[in-house]
Amino acid sequence: MKIAFFDTKPYDKPSFDKFGEKHGVKFKYFETKLTEDTVNLARGYDGVCVFVNDVINASVIDSLVGLGVKTIALRCAGYNNVDVKHAKGKIRVVRVPAYSPYAVAEHAIAMLLTSIRRIHKSYLRTRDFNFSLSGLTGFDLHGKTVGVIGTGKIGQVFIDICKGFGMHVLAYDKFPSDKVKEKGVEYVELDKIFELCDVISLHCPLTDETYHLIDDKAIEKCKKGVAIINTSRGALVDAEALLHGIKTRKIGTACLDVYEEEGDHFFEDKSGHIMDDDVLARLISMPNVIVTSHQAFLTEEALSAIAEVTVDNLLSLKATGECVNEVCYHAGEIGDCKK
Ligand code: NAI
Repeated sequence: MKIAFFDTKPYDKPSFDKFGEKHGVKFKYFETKLTEDTVNLARGYDGVCVFVNDVINASVIDSLVGLGVKTIALRCAGYNNVDVKHAKGKIRVVRVPAYSPYAVAEHAIAMLLTSIRRIHKSYLRTRDFNFSLSGLTGFDLHGKTVGVIGTGKIGQVFIDICKGFGMHVLAYDKFPSDKVKEKGVEYVELDKIFELCDVISLHCPLTDETYHLIDDKAIEKCKKGVAIINTSRGALVDAEALLHGIKTRKIGTACLDVYEEEGDHFFEDKSGHIMDDDVLARLISMPNVIVTSHQAFLTEEALSAIAEVTVDNLLSLKATGECVNEVCYHAGEIGDCKK
């Protein structure tokens, strides 16, 4: 089986080569993203393997179908960048629903601790032999209230870690889980999360419903000094509203592993370029904002799991015509076909 692999980074190849060679799946690596301009590179391949910032809209799907490509294999969990509705009946879409929820939840906590304990500041100071503590006062997580929005695989690991810190956990999910309630977590309405929480962490998918879930109105309802963590998808947060919340001192800290317009910047070395996204530049300039470049998934364990599950997905579709990780449009909803 031959697969065209788009948006390749050096850290992708070792694990995909390992699992591909083991099972007779040959990957051709392209550095470019999959777009309307690059789709012809997929000619002659059985499938394409894509990541979070490849654009698989209706036009790309039609081109792939015209080229005889049978499968879109997402090497990530989210599928908001694929027009799954348009793909129905034309091309199969599979994903990696979970690779390491620990990787993402631990990164969320790493960002939170870094920002509230000013580690990013003290690291730079001590490298310059500046041992002053002025301006580095943080706050204890113990006894604080954290609001977790989205209590799936990652949200649940994040909850366990927060409980380890002695935090009081409130949660919001469109589909509350008994397993989470058994952990002693209370589900509340979204407004209560905004009103009561010192820390809010986003772990729900990006959908029409969750687009700009954190906007001006939500920020208005929040406690002064709230810490907002987004390791999920950029457009869950209205970046301009976030910036306004920081400028007005309403938001105490923002930890962003994802950004609304990240497709133009993240994963690339732009250090020699003029940053043309004023909102991103301003956010990065703030002393209480930590930005990482969609890095939360990047652990050895996760990379290995991503490659293994992607190869399994491709083999399963070929051998049986079915795959447990297929994403479908069904009865007006987009989600896992097997649900
Ligand atoms: P999951 O599917 O296990 O959990 C998502 C949860 O969100 C579910 O409990 C679901 O009921 C809930 N949800 C769905 N619609 C909702 C709504 N309208 N409001 C509130 N909750 C809603 O997904 P998982 O594995 O926990 O991943 C969560 C998100 O993390 C993914 O959607 C993805 O966007 C992001 N992610 C980010 C990574 C990174 O490197 N930064 C890596 C992997 C995932």
